Amino acid sequence: MAKVFIMRGLPGAGKTTWIRNNIPDAFICSADNYFLDEAGIYKFDCLFISEAHESCLKCFAEILISHKDETENEHLVIVVDNTAIRAWEISPYYNLAKAYGHDVKVVSIKCDSDLAHSRNIHGVPLERVEKMDEGLIGETLPSFWNVEVVEQVSDD
Ligand SMILES: Nc1ncnc2c1ncn2[C@@H]1O[C@H](COP(=O)(O)OP(=O)(O)OP(=O)(O)O)[C@@H](O)[C@H]1O
Ligand SMILES: [Mg+2]
Repeated sequence: MAKVFIMRGLPGAGKTTWIRNNIPDAFICSADNYFLDEAGIYKFDCLFISEAHESCLKCFAEILISHKDETENEHLVIVVDNTAIRAWEISPYYNLAKAYGHDVKVVSIKCDSDLAHSRNIHGVPLERVEKMDEGLIGETLPSFWNVEVVEQVSDD
């Protein structure tokens, strides 16, 4: 059984930082990787969001498949690093990981939209962050999902 973490939170909420601090050796699947050029520079293009998420899900599925015959998966840690505002964005990862018998947790990084916007390194406009926050607040995840909420606080 591997450990699978599915991150959730606004742009700038601190998902990637949390991964770095808590599970530094994890395999990371992220739609953001699709927008990295050969030099590792992030070049977002909203026309390719679907492709980016398809590529992320494929990356995740391939890791699960490539480890499926291992009886000893205790040290395998996989993390999905997307904003994952809506339950439908989380479901494919959650269900696939459970189907392969892994231990799954959604790590929801709770952060005020102003703080997240002030920290966000991907240039997401405040209006978009606020809209995403409305979605986040309005969305109820299935009660049977394993969810941990991590509160972010301003350091000023
Ligand atoms: N707990 C924290 N205290 C102070 N600064 C933080 C904290 N967590 C993250 N940051 C800073 O906030 C910025 C954004 O964090 P990070 O890149 O982890 O966010 P993210 O949720 O991964 O955003 P995105 O969805 O855009 O990838 C970074 O500069 C990071 O150093
Ligand atoms: Mg990130």
